[in-house]
Amino acid sequence: MMKSTFPKNNEEVHALLKASLAFRKNFKLPTNAMRLVNGIGDQLPGLIIDRYDQHFVIYALEEFWLAHKALLKEFLTQHFEVKFLVIKNRSASSSPVMGKESMDVLVSGPSQTIVEENGLKFHVDLGDHLNQGLFLDMRKNRKLVASLSSGKEVLNCFAYTCSFGAHCRLAGALRVVNVDISSKFLKSGEENYKLNHLKTGRSEFMREHAIRYIERAAKRNNLFDVIILDPPSFSRFEGKVFSVKKEMPNMMAKAIAALKPEGVLFVATNLSSINRAQLESWAWAAAKANNALITEIDKLGQDVDFRGSGLVKESFLSALLLKIKRHSVSKK
Ligand SMILES: C[S@@+](CC[C@H](N)C(=O)[O-])C[C@H]1O[C@@H](n2cnc3c(N)ncnc32)[C@H](O)[C@@H]1O
Repeated sequence: MMKSTFPKNNEEVHALLKASLAFRKNFKLPTNAMRLVNGIGDQLPGLIIDRYDQHFVIYALEEFWLAHKALLKEFLTQHFEVKFLVIKNRSASSSPVMGKESMDVLVSGPSQTIVEENGLKFHVDLGDHLNQGLFLDMRKNRKLVASLSSGKEVLNCFAYTCSFGAHCRLAGALRVVNVDISSKFLKSGEENYKLNHLKTGRSEFMREHAIRYIERAAKRNNLFDVIILDPPSFSRFEGKVFSVKKEMPNMMAKAIAALKPEGVLFVATNLSSINRAQLESWAWAAAKANNALITEIDKLGQDVDFRGSGLVKESFLSALLLKIKRHSVSKK
């Protein structure tokens, strides 16, 4: 049974923190960036701690943890050589300044560092307000998608800092197109490519609305073996709001139209109101609309360090890897 009450005293906090580290010790993850504490999954409701090598970030989703800053700092500095530590207040009481959450640096130093994952390096910045540059929960899915991309043409939509794209390149993808509306994130993606000396094609980094790119690709018969759809829950571009719940069914159908006769579609969402069954039913409808067949479905989620994944909306990921056969593809 998962406990959803706060620890009674400092000794209990300490014991639960120790248990969280012990739980992850045997995973031997292929990275130095991982979740160390995952809230209720570790019986520490509202407390998230992520490690990026020697840089650490604490998310206080409950005000309770703000009163335990000193204890958390002491625990982490006892167990690790901490170069940077920040606590970010994401509790209901937090009033973001200019849309930015409040944060308190507990161990100061440069907020940027480089982490490693499955043979690749990535720039991260823990001083960044919302995202650090690498979504840790997607680690095993990056590896899985990359394992299918050797010699293939890959379209990475909602690319962010191009971590999927970089993994596919490392695995020997023939062509990778990373599409994102943010030139800032694409620039970070380029930096990640440079850091790893990865090959870069002519259209490797495309600033474009993902749906528009997919539509145009299908229309021009610019087809892909692998398409990655990992959108945010909501976004805004050129005055229009993107909502994953509203757009995903249609976007999946459009993506299947941009696949080669035998292709792979990877879809994912962190929005807790979309479960895998929902994604799967959209996938069948999208396949049907394209006269296509889904020949294999892999149901995926967050990596193992996200203990108790799905128990709370802050730790949630529905993902599917779909192998798809299209019966007829128009030739132009
Ligand atoms: C949830 S993240 C994607 C995470 C990424 N797939 C990864 O694994 O690192 C959101 C990204 O989607 C981008 N984005 C939001 N709306 C978009 C749109 N309509 N078309 C393309 N990119 C979009 C944002 O700029 C941001 O980089």
